[in-house]
This record gives sequence, structure tokens and C-alpha cells, in this order.
Amino acid sequence: MNYIVVTIFPEMFAPFWEHGIIGRAIASGKITAGAVNPREFTNDRHRTTDDRPFGGGAGMVMKSGPLAGAVRSARRRFPEALTLLLTPQGRPFDQETALQLAGQNALILVCGRYEGVDERVGDALIDMEVSVGDYVLTGGELPAMILMDAVTRLIPGILGGEASAEKDSFSDGLLEHAQYTRPRVFEGRGAPEVLFSGNHKAIDDWRREDALIRTLLKRKDLLEKRGLRPEERKILKKWVRDIERLLDAQSLPGADPSSGA
Ligand code: ADE
Repeated sequence: MNYIVVTIFPEMFAPFWEHGIIGRAIASGKITAGAVNPREFTNDRHRTTDDRPFGGGAGMVMKSGPLAGAVRSARRRFPEALTLLLTPQGRPFDQETALQLAGQNALILVCGRYEGVDERVGDALIDMEVSVGDYVLTGGELPAMILMDAVTRLIPGILGGEASAEKDSFSDGLLEHAQYTRPRVFEGRGAPEVLFSGNHKAIDDWRREDALIRTLLKRKDLLEKRGLRPEERKILKKWVRDIERLLDAQSLPGADPSSGA
């Protein structure tokens, strides 16, 4: 994978490209990353990259010329690259999109600033608009980092064996099960006994069940979108029965066992 970021703040990317898994992937040559600054493609004394919007109104708009110059320069380096614009108006970025993008050879990530970019740049040069969430940031730089982070870890050979991306949250449409590590008891709280049993099948079953229940409790929308397999339906129904049994067995204050409520 080769990333080129089009940004007027290339310095923002240096620490991101130097650390952690991304840093290692670049150092080992598994991915490359660079920036092109639209300021290099200005021809006025002040190297202006923004201007007032036609029709008036608040804020500034990124000028078409410098931005187009920067994108074209990036494209000359990687003619096959997909060109993405980071914008709150784009397609919501999710794990599925990350997986699709991980299959590309090169991505050009165009970071808008100010109130947005001149519409004609989008029309002429952008293949896809991407949003990282329904909120407005001051620029596309953080969204570009989010995208590179999520995409890079899905490229084969980037994550080491155990931490395989197939075991991820979302890879199966579910949130990840709870995780625990030493100490065995933390401030009076233990960890589930099954995890110390050495019984791998029981541990796998517990993890699948925990992932399902967590997804139902925290992100019901994900389950609704994905649907349930017959064995998962069984697991959740058993869980509901267990809870009912527990509630029935306890005389909770205010509970009226005869009401069946
Ligand atoms: N630029 C500003 N806000 C953004 C968002 N939510 N997603 C992508 N790019 C952005």
C-alpha cells in the first residue's frame, strides 16, 4: 500500500507515521507514506490556498488550483491510485470500507480545511468521499489518519500472527468479547473462571457468547443489521432464560412474584 496525503499541514503526519504498527510497517517497507502540500502549487506571493466563497457567507473555501495541482502531482506518482476526499458529507467509513480499501495499491487522501473545498475539484479529481462520523472537524487530517490506521492493520502481513485481523471486533459483525490480563484479582474484581480452565473449547464458547451479549447490550443496531444465526439465537435465548431464572429466584424489593412481571 502507498499513501499520499494532500494537506496544508504535512507536519501533522510525521508522529503518526513514526510510531506503533504504522511506524513499523513503513520502516519495513510494507507500506509507504508521503504528503503533498497544495501550497507548493500556488503562484501568488502569499502562497494562498483559500479564498472567500462566491455568493458571500462565513468562512473560507479551499481554492481549486493549488488543490488540483497537488492531487495531480500525487497521481503522477501513483497513476492507479484511488483518490479520496475526507469530508463529513462522504460515505460513512466502516470496517467493510476499510477492508475494500486495503485491497488497493495506492490511496491519495485529500484533506479539506476551512469550510470545504471548491466543488469543481471534487467533480474533476475525487473518486470517493469518505466521512469518519457525523460530526464536523476542523480538517480532514485526523480523518485521514483514522482511515490509514484502520486500513493498514488489515493489509496481510502487517499484524503479527496472534493479533490477526480476522479476530477483530466487527470482523464477524460483532463487538469483541471482554479481555482480562494479570493480576487475577484487580481491586476485588475477579475474571471469569472459565478463562483459567485450560479448556479451549469452553473458552471459545464463552468468548462467542460474551461477544453476542455485549453486542446486543451495547450496539443492538449492529445485530439488527447483521441478523442472528440459529445457534446464536439459541445462545441469547438461553441467556434470557438464565436472567429470568435469576430474577425469579430473588425476592427483589418491590417485585411482586405473583404478577409475573
Ligand atoms: N472533515 C471534517 N469533518 C470530517 C469528518 N467527520 N469526516 C471526514 N472528514 C472531515
